[in-house]
Amino acid sequence: MDPRTNPYTPNAGAQPPVLAGRSSLLDNFSVLMNRLKAGRTDKSMVITGLRGVGKTVLLGVFRKNADDSGWVTLESEISKHDDMAFGKMIAKEMRRALFSLDPARKWAKRARRAAGVLRSFSLTVDPGGSLSVGLDVERMYGTADSGQLDSDLTDLFVALGEAAQEKGTGILLLFDEIHCLSLSQLEALIMGLHKCVQRSLPITLVGAGLPQTLELSSEAKSYSERLFSFPQIGALSADEAKYALIEPASHLGITFEESAIDFICEYTGGYPYFLQEYGKAVWNVSGGEMITLEDAKVAQSLVEHELDENFFATRISGATQLEYAYMRAMAELGDGPQLAGDVASLLDRTSPQVSPTRSNLIAKGQLYTPQFGYADFTVPQFARYLRRRGPLEVPKQRPKTGRDRVDEQLR
Ligand SMILES: Nc1ncnc2c1ncn2[C@@H]1O[C@H](COP(=O)(O)OP(=O)(O)O)[C@@H](O)[C@H]1O
Ligand SMILES: [Mg+2]
Repeated sequence: MDPRTNPYTPNAGAQPPVLAGRSSLLDNFSVLMNRLKAGRTDKSMVITGLRGVGKTVLLGVFRKNADDSGWVTLESEISKHDDMAFGKMIAKEMRRALFSLDPARKWAKRARRAAGVLRSFSLTVDPGGSLSVGLDVERMYGTADSGQLDSDLTDLFVALGEAAQEKGTGILLLFDEIHCLSLSQLEALIMGLHKCVQRSLPITLVGAGLPQTLELSSEAKSYSERLFSFPQIGALSADEAKYALIEPASHLGITFEESAIDFICEYTGGYPYFLQEYGKAVWNVSGGEMITLEDAKVAQSLVEHELDENFFATRISGATQLEYAYMRAMAELGDGPQLAGDVASLLDRTSPQVSPTRSNLIAKGQLYTPQFGYADFTVPQFARYLRRRGPLEVPKQRPKTGRDRVDEQLR
């Protein structure tokens, strides 16, 4: 069919034509917004899940809903920053929030105070002063200028929360890729938000990240569970997956043969990104008003090619030989979490020998640890992809040095 009318959206963060299976999260979000605006408190959300399950899309929908209710929304994608750079990012976002609250810069009482605190915070994280341009008020000495990220950020959040309250609105921070925060940055955010909750101020954060976010949060200050709920999202159920496929086509008068739907759902495992990729391919190959099983079978190699090129390949492009072998050995052991010891023995090595490789893969966001001793891929169906690429090749060990032998004896 005409690719120009193809309704499917296989792109990171692209709003799908129908958002399948996320209605309870949307309800929770609406309750959160309403409660905060009414001066009540509620747990905010940190959504976790594998790549391609629809976390960024959800943040986008939350943003739109909050915008429509007159909230000030700030969207950021976290990357691995030191604390200074993180502070600058926060200062930039909060500057934007303040100017949205008070575009004419007339500075009502709380807004004026917030501008002074923001100026103080900005000059602390960016002594050059470029971030405080337009903040034409005196800096607030002694507030948000200690150089301690957690207490400065708390001062800033409280000041901005009060300014928002004065205007009868709220501030929503939407942070994507939140697993990239360092522990100290997450703790600073938690501390700032905690203070705002204590004072019933309308400022909150909704985050999204890979499953390792859960581990990071449990290492952070113990009250993170009291501030956030941690909904996990994943593959869609069979009915939801069918809806995600059928509905966009039916709006354009196109139907699916039942067996075609079953074939696609089976292949994609209900993962949203895979469904969109399959929907796009099968639409393009199909010739009639009904998409058939035959179409679905023809489209499979196209889908596989697209996924390999655009989704999977980027995940191995930066891997060292041993990192690749580690992942390939995991895939050899099957789908799902694998024990570190089993992977090591398949690579003819001891666990301590490959533990730095495993840690690197975790740090790079390729793997996470669903339970102690185990690791799994952060990309769905990655094991299947690696097996498809070729057999396991165990890298030769370099010859042992004297130092290695001493280490072995000490163990
Ligand atoms: N609920 C959903 N129903 C149908 N398609 C979805 C849904 N959520 C996401 N998608 C599609 O899945 C893909 C991945 O979404 P994205 O939000 O980028 O995932 P993540 O941020 O978890 O990696 C996109 O192509 C998007 O259009
Ligand atoms: Mg995303």
